[in-house]
Parts: sequence; structure tokens; C-alpha cells
Amino acid sequence: MRNNSDHAMFADATHDEQSAQSFIKTLRVFSTRNFHGGNEAILKEKVLSKYADGECPPRREMRIALEDEPHNRWWSSLMRTTQEMLYDTVGPSIERQLPNLIERAKSLRGKLGSLTLDDKVDVPPYLSSVDNHCKPGSYHQEIIDDDVFAGAEFDRTFRLYAMGGLGPNLDDMGFTLIAWLRNHFGEIGPKRILDMGCTVGHSTLPYCDLYPDSEIHAIDVAATCLRYGHARAVAMEKEVHFSQQNAEYTNFEDGSFDLVVSHAVLHETSHRAIRAIFKECYRLLSPGGLMIHMDGITPNKPFDKYYSDWMSVNNNEPYLGTVQDEDFVSICTQAGFSKENVSLGEAEPQFIGKASDDKPVSGYLVVSAQK
Ligand SMILES: C[S@@+](CC[C@H](N)C(=O)[O-])C[C@H]1O[C@@H](n2cnc3c(N)ncnc32)[C@H](O)[C@@H]1O
Repeated sequence: MRNNSDHAMFADATHDEQSAQSFIKTLRVFSTRNFHGGNEAILKEKVLSKYADGECPPRREMRIALEDEPHNRWWSSLMRTTQEMLYDTVGPSIERQLPNLIERAKSLRGKLGSLTLDDKVDVPPYLSSVDNHCKPGSYHQEIIDDDVFAGAEFDRTFRLYAMGGLGPNLDDMGFTLIAWLRNHFGEIGPKRILDMGCTVGHSTLPYCDLYPDSEIHAIDVAATCLRYGHARAVAMEKEVHFSQQNAEYTNFEDGSFDLVVSHAVLHETSHRAIRAIFKECYRLLSPGGLMIHMDGITPNKPFDKYYSDWMSVNNNEPYLGTVQDEDFVSICTQAGFSKENVSLGEAEPQFIGKASDDKPVSGYLVVSAQK
């Protein structure tokens, strides 16, 4: 058995399970390293050569131009197939251990932080009507009482999916956002922080380390991820208050937080939901408080934009293409923020930068606004 993470909730893998999972990860790394660069060359030759430097062609034009290229078809097929294989191999391994994982999670409850579930919270249609990035049952499906399956499965598959790019605890997005925040706003010392769409809290826990005096809250609609995420946080000795809530309308009081963040969440919502979420952030912030959303949105980088569009069409991430075209400044001002307090920036991943060809998307868009 191998537990190749450093917390007690991480599911084990038998020799054969580990071997199958490592094979898939290696195949994805191989495909990314050996084929994806070739896609960029074809894109440059077939499409970008017709545009001025710095101009970004429409997503559809890029996708259609590459669609029938044999090189691209190989890559595309490998990426989709390995995505499904990730879940096909990790899923049964988690199912085998599920009773034990549930007991472990229960034994960690009530020890540190808190877990508040509410079965009246609706899972919005943009999550429930599709197996997000081919994850069967998306984030929220419950298959047994006190279920932690979707969370445990996410922890293990995301580790393979990230191909080493997010660090051993998959917390790089949290550290990256905080580094960006410190660069732009200095030390802010927030009393209360809210992480929206936390899944199992990978990006939430860095806030415990870097803001030890803050009260940290994390919300998601998916109870099964929250049960696992709370147990994982306790196992890692981090104090977080997890609650099952929709980020579009939470039950926190007006002005409850000095900092509201999200990591890789916007692209999994919708055109309508993003607007509701930004309004909710505005309501939740105290005067002077900051909202910061970070996501793999790269509107001015043609190749990354092509990749996002590919994922929306081929990897069950319906909004990931469209979100590239959103006008975030206007969404912020419609939510109540003043235009001069809104900024769009880019954050360089902390670990990924060092493993340059391991991951196709090379940076994050940061949308920040101060109340
Ligand atoms: C890609 S995952 C986010 C990963 C996580 N933030 C991290 O950094 O590891 C997207 C998450 O957002 C959650 N989500 C999407 N829309 C939401 C909403 N309206 N309210 C709460 N959670 C939401 C999903 O349930 C899912 O767990």
C-alpha cells in the first residue's frame, strides 16, 4: 500500500492501483510534452500568421483550424482518453476503501474547525447537468450515507491531473493568490477570510499558514467534498470552518469578511452565476475589504485560449471557453465595486513555473476589487 501524500485522509493504493495510476499520469505527461508543443506550431502556422502580433483570433477559428490535423487528433484523443482513465482507475480504488475513509472522517469530526452541512442547498444546474471534467457524478453525487467518495477521489485524481505542477499538497493556487495579494496590497491582516468553491480545501489551507490570526471559512455546494475536506484539514492540523453553501447566495451577514477569494471556480459556473457571485462578494465584504478570484483564464494568449476552448468542447467543461470572453471589469462594477478599485492581473504559478512543460496552461487571471 502507498499513501503518497502527507495526510491521513489520503486514500491508499495497492501496488497494482498505483501502477495503473502512475501509467496514466506518465501518459499524460508524455502527451503534453511531446504533442502539445506541436499543436502550438500548427496554430502559429495556420492561424496566428494571419493576425498581427498580440492579436488573439476567435476561439472557434483556432479550434476548427486544428480539428482535422492528425497531430492534434492524436493529442486530443490521448487527453480525453486518459482523462476518463483517471477516474476509471482511481474510482474503484476509492470505493474499495470507502467504509474506512468514512470512519476516518467521522473520527476527525468535532476536533478542529467545523463542518456545517445543509441538505437544502441546491446544486446549481451548471454543476449538476454535466460530469464536470468527466468526473462521474461531478463534485456533489452522494452514493452512501456520510459519503466522502467525491472528495477522496478528487484528491487522488487531481494529484495525477496536476502532473506535479501544484506541489505535494496541491496547494499552489492558494500560495500563488496570496503571493499576488502581497505584491499588490502588502500585508493586510484580514480578520475573517472566505474561500468560495473550496472543494476539499487544497487552496484554502495556505491561508491558515500565512494568516494564522485570521478566522478561515470555506464553502462549497458539495457535501461529500466538504466532509472529506474538513477531515483532511484536521488531519493536517489546520483550523477551517467548512460550510455547505452556494456562493451565489450565502447565509453570512453583510460585511462579514475582509477577504473573499476563489481558486479555479469561475470557469465552472456560468455567465449568470458569475454575476450573482460577484454581487454576493460585494455584500459580504467589510468596507475596504478585498475580493480576489484567480482562474486559468488567459484571454490574450492564443494558445492557452485554444486549450481552454478545447477543454470546453472535449473535456466536459462547458463554460471554460465562454469565460475567456467575459468583461470582468464590468461584472465588478455591476456588482457594486467602483471601477477605479477593480484590477485585472496575471499571477505566475509558484511551482509550475519551474516545471515549464508539465502543464499547458501557463498562468492565471486574477480579478480583484476593493470595496
Ligand atoms: C475546480 S473546483 C475548485 C478547486 C478548489 N478551489 C481548489 O483550489 O482546490 C470547483 C469547485 O467549485 C464549486 N462550486 C462551483 N459553483 C459553486 C457555487 N455556486 N457555490 C459553491 N461552490 C461552487 C464546485 O462544487 C467545485 O467544488
